[in-house]
Amino acid sequence: MKKTVIMLVVLILAVIIAGCQSAPTRDEIINQGRNVFRDKCVSCHTINGQGGKRGPDLTKIGLAHDQAWFKSYLENPYSVKPDSRMPQVSLSADEIGNLTVFLGSLK
Ligand code: HEC
Repeated sequence: MKKTVIMLVVLILAVIIAGCQSAPTRDEIINQGRNVFRDKCVSCHTINGQGGKRGPDLTKIGLAHDQAWFKSYLENPYSVKPDSRMPQVSLSADEIGNLTVFLGSLK
């Protein structure tokens, strides 16, 4: 009986602690997106003078498209632009989510 009560208290505490973990802030998401960019995109794209030249400069790309566009484009560039010269990059759903916020912030 005593054990059950302790188990219950531990369980309730675990649920409370889990609920307290706040969602990532916009800045944290942007930072994650920047990390993905440095890993998978910077070889072809320049931001603020740093990066490769195979793709267009993305320094102000947030002015050109919205997040929904970035999401579709990163999921499959050919669905948005059938003649896209950008290859499809292998990305997780999380990486795409973080990248769309990061790209949207480039203004
Ligand atoms: C192998 C080189 C290469 C890689 C890697 C690459 N891109 Fe591209 N990207 C391109 C090229 C080339 C274009 C131009 C495509 C076109 O218009 O046909 C482009 C276009 C884009 C555009 C559209 C720009 C516009 O003005 O419409 C965005 C946004 C973009 N890339 C983001 C990314 C992101 C984010 C990554 C990393 C996940 C990435 N790219 C990885 C070569 C690349």
